[in-house]
Amino acid sequence: MPNLKGLVLAGGTGTRLRPITHTSAKQLVPLANKPILFYGLEALAAAGVKKVGMIVGETRAEVMAAVGSGSAFGLEVTYLPQEEPLGLAHCVAIARDFLGEDDFVMFLGDNLIKDGIVEFARSFSSRSSDVVAEILLAKVPDPHRFGVAALDGDGRVVRLVEKPKDPPSDLALVGVYFFDATIHRAVESIKPSGRGELEITDAIQWLIDSGYRVSSKQISGYWKDLGHPEALLEGNRLVLEDIERRIDGELDEESIVEGRVVIEAGARLVRSRVRGPAVIGLGCLLEDAFVGPFTSLGENCELRSSELENSIVLGGTSIVGVGRIEGSIVGKKAVIRKRKLLPRANRLVVGDHSIVDLA
Ligand code: DAU
Repeated sequence: MPNLKGLVLAGGTGTRLRPITHTSAKQLVPLANKPILFYGLEALAAAGVKKVGMIVGETRAEVMAAVGSGSAFGLEVTYLPQEEPLGLAHCVAIARDFLGEDDFVMFLGDNLIKDGIVEFARSFSSRSSDVVAEILLAKVPDPHRFGVAALDGDGRVVRLVEKPKDPPSDLALVGVYFFDATIHRAVESIKPSGRGELEITDAIQWLIDSGYRVSSKQISGYWKDLGHPEALLEGNRLVLEDIERRIDGELDEESIVEGRVVIEAGARLVRSRVRGPAVIGLGCLLEDAFVGPFTSLGENCELRSSELENSIVLGGTSIVGVGRIEGSIVGKKAVIRKRKLLPRANRLVVGDHSIVDLA
């Protein structure tokens, strides 16, 4: 696939996955202990992409620290700062010089495509000469939260609408788009939408209205944050379903690891049981603990005399003596513990936008 560049969008503000993104870029929220963004970078590298332009916004320091030069992914990353999140098509405009006349794949840094994009990159590179763009579509239960495509009887894209109140289909635009250089003319021709953004949806509609052909492929195994904790847990489950067993940490004689579990180096299990799929991060300590399916425990966490299932816990957190926790998301360096202070009461120091459901 000659000269297929990558354009990765890792700017914007992260208000929807609050409170986790109060302190973190949304593209760096971990699924199975790995930032969402990294799955996208791996997918690009697997599809033969070498040069990536990465749009970064107010969280640029954190994104740049995590991705670096891109060499860990086999990529060469050029950072393209965006002062304000003015839209997906605005990102293409910012990347104009980086992209030159080359074909490229635009990848939204908060989207997860479980099976990667190799097949789609291949089909785009061998497209018929009248095709200038290829979009990916996924059936979703709530199309009004996405760009939505209407197809004709031959599966050709005839209309795209951004977040319609009355969706023409249940086919959402997935955040991966293949373009040739014709898109730059489209981007120069469109005006900002009602929400004040230059919409890539409008740019693709411009291509269609100007007589160019836009092809589409449907995918499954698609995930994007929907702005509530249950959706993040769902993304975590989707990724954990694919992990392979690897035990690099230490278990004492009374500990048991069942099924597809990753125990990273330096992690220690003492009188504990982990039932996969689950990931236990670098340097964690589990003592008299149970970790149930679909759980990710970030690095250097401590879980003692407690049970945890179907949850995401970020690094440096300590959970001690609290019984059973399920369906929960816990940020970095949090402390959840049972204490015998009098008078008996729940004592909380809870950050902005947190949710605490007490049993
Ligand atoms: O995720 C798929 C959806 O992505 C599509 O169905 C929609 O058609 C498309 O418009 C887009 O919708 P969102 O409103 O969900 O996009 P969001 O604002 O969340 O931005 C997507 C990613 O791009 C996110 O990682 C932030 C980054 N971004 C966004 C904007 C608007 C930037 O880097 N710069 C920007 O200006």
